[in-house]
Amino acid sequence: MTEKIIIVDFGSQYTQLIARRVREARVYSEILAWNDPKLTEPEVGTRGYILSGGPMSAYAQGAPGITGALLKSQLPILGICYGMQALAQALEGEVSRAGEHEYGLAEITVIKENPLLPQGNLTVWMSHGDRITRPPKGWEVLASSANCPIAAVGDLTKKRFGLQFHPEVRHTPLGTEILRRFVLEICGCAPDWTPESIIQQSVARIRQQAAGKRVLSAVSGGVDSSVATALAREALGANVSSVFVDTGLLRLGEREQVVRAFENLPGEPLRVVDASERFLTKLKGVTDPEEKRKIIGEAFIREFEAFAREVGNPGFLVQGTIYPDVVESQGFGAQQAQRIKSHHNVGALPAEMKFELIEPLRLLFKDEVRAVGEALGLPRALVWRQPFPGPGLAVRCLGEITRERLDTLRQADAIFTSELEKEGLLQLVETAGGLAEGSSQAFAVLLPVRSVGVMGDQRSYQEVVALRAVTTTDFMTADWARLPHELLARTASRIVNEVPRVNRVVYDITSKPPATIEWE
Ligand code: XMP
Repeated sequence: MTEKIIIVDFGSQYTQLIARRVREARVYSEILAWNDPKLTEPEVGTRGYILSGGPMSAYAQGAPGITGALLKSQLPILGICYGMQALAQALEGEVSRAGEHEYGLAEITVIKENPLLPQGNLTVWMSHGDRITRPPKGWEVLASSANCPIAAVGDLTKKRFGLQFHPEVRHTPLGTEILRRFVLEICGCAPDWTPESIIQQSVARIRQQAAGKRVLSAVSGGVDSSVATALAREALGANVSSVFVDTGLLRLGEREQVVRAFENLPGEPLRVVDASERFLTKLKGVTDPEEKRKIIGEAFIREFEAFAREVGNPGFLVQGTIYPDVVESQGFGAQQAQRIKSHHNVGALPAEMKFELIEPLRLLFKDEVRAVGEALGLPRALVWRQPFPGPGLAVRCLGEITRERLDTLRQADAIFTSELEKEGLLQLVETAGGLAEGSSQAFAVLLPVRSVGVMGDQRSYQEVVALRAVTTTDFMTADWARLPHELLARTASRIVNEVPRVNRVVYDITSKPPATIEWE
């Protein structure tokens, strides 16, 4: 039985962050919307609740509230910002508008010794317009600041706590420690949500679902499909038929890397289908981005059908759905997530191909997927890989797609990523000040124009490469990465010198919105 903490979602942009911080303390956490019927009947293993922040005022009409079941619960509760205010109000405390909105860093002083907060002065991140003006009966003020007399409150006997600030963000340096104390010391959870225990539980679940049956799995070269497939193979061994389709639209060395990654894992060898000729023939002369996507999506399905037929049309399919997808399609973020991702359905299978889905990553955040991948023995380079779109280089090779142009793009892209890697900038690194350094996604794009240059004494009229690097956490909005000029200079000079047919390199300095991350 897994012990867990339920995160009750009131619509905060930080809800998933709370869940991740709890899991960093090695305790399993699950997000439920504030009105989810599952809250009325807490599942076995539930050890406590954390109530998220939210955009509303607790006293506004129709504001989401604390359900009766939660109020009756004997389990510890930690309310954060809105969550604390909603809880205080439900217990007949008073919440009202603060004089002015408080936003940013604040210094609070702990005035009553308690098991949640470290003693002394703490730097915390505040973001609120309302505050508690009268705590519920039996609650004591635990910490306060000049601006905010009730920065932390609680009923120590009933183990109910409220924080006006956000412990889940990095700007609150001791925030992770506060959450750790809540889940381990106050709720009494054991810190046993580790990659090894995740693997054990996944394997058991997959076996329960599909033991003895044949299962299909398509590996794209990305982290999620690779880890999902590796887990399925760990559970079902030779009953998993996995395939990797080489579309001819992959990055330099990608096919070899994927083949190597699976060589030493249990199960049947990965089947590699070289479909590049078929894909490139279908794409010949096509320049319209949407048409490229459609052609590639259909070509994938044909390859997949052929493979499924070959292995006897199994009824099960492994899919790399991860927890943020699950939360976004069921909770507060559902509408926005759906709108933005609607065009990312390359590879979606037609309705007549019916499968029972095996989704071993359904409960995991991306960082957990990576940790599990490493524990399963997948190489670091693959596990830490940046995202790559389903249609591959087709949407980065603007204009007509030919083998020659794809080669040009691949070489330029490899130079850019290797320069980034040398500087450790191929990942997004959060600095102590809360700023992001490095890149969440970085790649080269081949433009559909040529430009004039001079090489030696010769006039040239050749291709243009654009470099794109962004920082983002959710890929729905993104900023262009402020890469060091020296690195950009070195990259540009290497590309024009080493890659035939390129005489100009430009750097993309638009954010998303208004631009998108990919160029097509
Ligand atoms: P955009 O370009 O919309 O991309 O800002 C956001 C993220 O999604 C990836 N992307 C795709 N992924 N199929 C995919 O599987 C697609 O058609 C596709 N288009 C974009 C993109 O690389 C970025 O990470």
